[in-house]
Amino acid sequence: RTARFTLDPAFTVGAVNPRLFGSFVEHLGRCVYTGVFEPGHPAADAEGLRGDVLDLVRELGVTTVRYPGGNFVSGYRWEDSVGPAGDRPRRLDLAWRSTETNRFGLSEYIAFLKKLGPQTEPMMAVNLGTRGVAEALALQEYANHPGGTALSDLRAEHGDKDPFGIRLWCLGNEMDGPWQTGHKTAAEYGRLAAETARAMRQIDPDVELVACGSSSQAMETFAAWEATVLEETYDLVDHVSLHAYYEPHDGDLDSFLASAVDMESFIENVVATCDHVGARLKSKKRINLSFDEWNVWYMAKTQAEVSALDWPEAPRLLEDNYSVLDAVVLGSLLIALLRHADRVTVACLAQLVNVIAPIMTEPGGPAWRQTTFFPFAQASRYGRGEVLDVRVDSPTYETEKYGEADLLHATAVRAEDGTVTVFAVNRSRTGALPLDVALSGLDLTEVVEHSALADADPDARNTLAEPDRVVPHPVDGTALGDGRLTAVLEPLSWNVIRLR
Ligand code: AHR
Repeated sequence: RTARFTLDPAFTVGAVNPRLFGSFVEHLGRCVYTGVFEPGHPAADAEGLRGDVLDLVRELGVTTVRYPGGNFVSGYRWEDSVGPAGDRPRRLDLAWRSTETNRFGLSEYIAFLKKLGPQTEPMMAVNLGTRGVAEALALQEYANHPGGTALSDLRAEHGDKDPFGIRLWCLGNEMDGPWQTGHKTAAEYGRLAAETARAMRQIDPDVELVACGSSSQAMETFAAWEATVLEETYDLVDHVSLHAYYEPHDGDLDSFLASAVDMESFIENVVATCDHVGARLKSKKRINLSFDEWNVWYMAKTQAEVSALDWPEAPRLLEDNYSVLDAVVLGSLLIALLRHADRVTVACLAQLVNVIAPIMTEPGGPAWRQTTFFPFAQASRYGRGEVLDVRVDSPTYETEKYGEADLLHATAVRAEDGTVTVFAVNRSRTGALPLDVALSGLDLTEVVEHSALADADPDARNTLAEPDRVVPHPVDGTALGDGRLTAVLEPLSWNVIRLR
């Protein structure tokens, strides 16, 4: 059976905030060291930043980079990460049982963003695990105050005369998780987040603040956590965070392919909770969502990997090698975010390099694109504009986790110049899916491109030995005529169909 939907510019979801295409650099494994930063590498610049990685990050189209964690931030002492590199202390990183050299710190992070270009903005987390209001304020003053105070002058002394201008701040990380150093109850965290937010706004009322929501929809405290935290922080923060990682359980690929069902319900439940608190507080303000960690992550093996560590520097950790199937799921998660662009105004693919990442590197060697690189890069490039309201009429399939799920998952974005891009995933592992889209009120005459990521072997991957094994390919036969777009979506495929 054919999957169908209608596109009509009169029916929209909302404008895409470029911050939807954010990413995340944590001091974890080799994300920083031998990832973005490797002094002495043939492609490294004078600051030790790898030029080959910078090129790939630009190609990926990343718009914000969250830093420095993650779980790492709950033990982070920002003072350790500034000043002459040779004087910086080595510290235990409790989150990842590693030794942190602090060779890469705040100034290097800002230098990295500057090299990426003005389209990429910082998103800095403060430590609300082992620290509190005073340290957050000190960091903010060091980073953002123009000069004439001890901490802003110290920044200048350290070689950064210009303030960093960090606007977007996370108030801690996953404070609902018992694994978090300094884990708190919702009431404890809500108070601390509120006091930190209030104080940070005393320095600068225009900072944008993200309060920690839940580490996943499956957390026992989910929704009650958000409600309690927001009761304390509603007038003081702009966003609440969501984190979600997906992997197949017991080989159940059909449920894994429908992971976006969970992601969409998570988003909708958080929106409902935010609006419920807003209604109770009789507030006109709307809290938006920062989905600041999301990805496919084969997490089951991580705990054992981390427990076995004896405080090494930059160990190989969470280095998932993604398949075509993983990339199709990731594409579907991107579609879920775009479908909720009215409320999800920040999102960060976790993470950027080596650690559950679209970009891989070898120390002293090359950098290459994982399969998951392609859907993200295409969505960032063509997913800017107004999201059209797509309601699919699709054949379905049975999943153990989510019951009946649509085989087609889709969205469409209309750019300012009137071109429209359809993003579509066919979740079927066995069958091609015919697609028929009715175009109403859209003056489109030409299929510019239909690109697909699919492979006869859904387990195919890019590796150091074969870095270009998987790349998107053009699809023939996609047609536009008589107000209809028709296409055939290959089994297990991520598709980008561009129309003008
Ligand atoms: O991204 C890896 C880890 O996942 C982060 O450190 C943490 O916030 C989450 O649990």
